[in-house]
Amino acid sequence: MKTALVTGAASGIGNATALRLQREGYDVLAVDRDPAGLGPLEESGMRVLAADLSDDEARAAVIEAGRGVDALVNSAGIIRLKPILELTVSDLRDIYAVNVEALWDLTSGIGRTMPSGSAIVNLSSSSAKLASTTEAAAYASSKAAVLSITRSFAYAFGASNVRVNALCPGIIDTPMQDQVLAKAAAARGLTVEQLSEERTRSVPLRRAASADECAGAIYFLVSDESSYMTGQAINFTGGLVMY
Ligand SMILES: NC(=O)c1ccc[n+]([C@@H]2O[C@H](COP(=O)([O-])OP(=O)(O)OC[C@H]3O[C@@H](n4cnc5c(N)ncnc54)[C@H](O)[C@@H]3O)[C@@H](O)[C@H]2O)c1
Repeated sequence: MKTALVTGAASGIGNATALRLQREGYDVLAVDRDPAGLGPLEESGMRVLAADLSDDEARAAVIEAGRGVDALVNSAGIIRLKPILELTVSDLRDIYAVNVEALWDLTSGIGRTMPSGSAIVNLSSSSAKLASTTEAAAYASSKAAVLSITRSFAYAFGASNVRVNALCPGIIDTPMQDQVLAKAAAARGLTVEQLSEERTRSVPLRRAASADECAGAIYFLVSDESSYMTGQAINFTGGLVMY
């Protein structure tokens, strides 16, 4: 049976991905800092590990538990919205600890133990390519770093036939997206509904996507259907980003 490790599995895209991989027959290890959110996954038969990935020791335990998996999905991430001139180095450090350091450490530590034919998917964001919300500047820079890390490890692991790709989602309906909409709407003096409508109007497909749809794209990048793809930054944005 193939094995997978999914971080951020208690919520949103990570949760949908863990469930999709389980349905595809993977033995899934679900990792998150939120033990309550992992409960339903454990009940569904997954192995779970509660760990704060911004903590060095906890991260080392996750890397140990993930040795030799066939699929690694780095979905854990945080966002902190503030006007760009109010963002501090402390904000940067908090965001980078999860979005960059943990992703690097797991990609490096687990990737080197993965068998030929296995795959890593790193969650980046359309914000790595766009600067439409400057309140998300620190987050956006962390997601740009994810693209560079993905390319470098795609090179490093290519000879072992371990593929490393990034997905760049646009607007996906998850608790993180709810948090972004609430804060950005308040900052602009709009209701959540008004801002949500304004944002989806700028998407060629005129809608947000569900976490399940996003999990489908992640599964494609994990599966042999993408066997000749590595080092890519795949947009999942309803056409919002086309490059
Ligand atoms: N939702 C979107 O529209 C969207 C768009 C672009 C990119 N993304 C990216 O996709 C990924 C998943 O986002 P989501 O919308 O599902 O978010 P979410 O907030 O719904 O889920 C993120 C999960 O990560 C976990 N997490 C956060 N910090 C952690 C830590 N230190 N240790 C362990 N777990 C931790 C949280 O507990 C949560 O369960 C993130 O990397 C995010 O940046 C999301």
